[in-house]
Amino acid sequence: MDTIRIEDAKNYVDQEVRLGAWLRNKRGSGKMQFLQLRDGTAFFQGVVSKEAVGEEIFAKAKALTQETSMYLIGTIREDERSPFGYEMQVKDLTVVGESDGYPITPKEHGTDFLMDHRHLYLRHIQPFAVLRIRNTIIAATYEFFNKEGFVKIDSPILTGSAPEGTTELFHTEYFDTDAYMSQTGQLYAEAGAMAFGRVFTFGPTFRAEKSKTRRHLTEFWMIEPEMAWMTQDDSLEVQERYIAYLIQAVLDRNQYELDLLGRDKELLQSYTQLPYPRVSYDDAIKLLQENEFDVEWGVDFGSPEETFLANHFAKPVFITNFPKEIKAFYMKRHPDRDDVVISADLLAPEGYGEIIGGSERDTDYDYLEQRIKEQGLDLKEYSWYLDLRKYGSVPHSGFGLGLERAVTWITGEEHIREAIPFPRTMNRLWP
Ligand code: 4AD
Ligand code: MG
Repeated sequence: MDTIRIEDAKNYVDQEVRLGAWLRNKRGSGKMQFLQLRDGTAFFQGVVSKEAVGEEIFAKAKALTQETSMYLIGTIREDERSPFGYEMQVKDLTVVGESDGYPITPKEHGTDFLMDHRHLYLRHIQPFAVLRIRNTIIAATYEFFNKEGFVKIDSPILTGSAPEGTTELFHTEYFDTDAYMSQTGQLYAEAGAMAFGRVFTFGPTFRAEKSKTRRHLTEFWMIEPEMAWMTQDDSLEVQERYIAYLIQAVLDRNQYELDLLGRDKELLQSYTQLPYPRVSYDDAIKLLQENEFDVEWGVDFGSPEETFLANHFAKPVFITNFPKEIKAFYMKRHPDRDDVVISADLLAPEGYGEIIGGSERDTDYDYLEQRIKEQGLDLKEYSWYLDLRKYGSVPHSGFGLGLERAVTWITGEEHIREAIPFPRTMNRLWP
């Protein structure tokens, strides 16, 4: 007899198999028990009939409590009424781990309660579906960049610099000096691009954001490709192909999870149509002003502006060439204008806002030195970075995709905390 996982049930119709599973819930009568089972691969039902199993096993089934783990033996049957399509006609069951007073009962619980019990809540349908889609996005990221000849570079997490601004730093002691939790792997990726041509970093990044929004985590994972000999236009093409690849991978591999979440698959499919529109920051400001937004040239977009812009195009949209003053020091100057940089943010539709930030990088030593000073950064911390401009500097571009922003959007979740196994936010460091 084969031991299977629930997702393999379709291959075992009318066969007797063994299965390890947990009980989510159950209902039934004095003659039948319907066990809602899960094993981490899918959810399905085990049917226990008193007539078929006898008094003793039926009594065991009837006494099962939520989240008890067990081995079941039974026959897989097709079950047209369930969304999963299969169930198990149970013949025998053995309890492995008892479960007493499981806190997350089938009734409605508030978000704080669920997040306080995140270590257990992971077992439930919504986190299951979202985090399996996250897993696909991670796998597809490696596939995409490996296919395109990128080398993965691992950037350090403990750093001495603050390339994305000094107000959002997590400080820590590092023996007798100071260290910061990395805000971005980009500067290291740039060093990597000069060594390997095309690289990507993928790791946790940290921002001491004092914003309690549905888009901000203090610890999030970022994918940062960096490409030598590539202009910003080349980079935008890589970005849109990458996003379309991720969405297609999820559509191909996670139908079940998308259905559990009730995500609109046709809408998702529409986002694989390329290209995405490119709209300059100047035009975006005009468009906002024409639509009654109280914005002036030079401001950064907030969430209402981002939502409007992406919904206006009903697609992900690149907003290009932002004002220099609101962007990081390394972004390339515009060839004819002093007030904007060669950059783009990719805004996701449906109110999800910025998912990618990127730019071409300036290659001029003196200009970068001046920008570092202007932004109040410590020149000493960047001397190694400036070396990259001293020894064979080349045009290069890169971008950063916030993994959880992408997962939140693709899964259609309300809040970014759902898109990471154990979220870290301004007021959550536990569990
Ligand atoms: O726009 P950001 O700050 O860009 C950078 O860090 C560049 N160094 C990237 C690069 O060019 N290599 O951040 C990039 C992305 C954002 O578009 C967003 O998706 C995500 O990272 N992000 C956050 N995600 C969750 N919580 C936060 N607090 C985030 N801050 C940025
Ligand atoms: Mg940004």
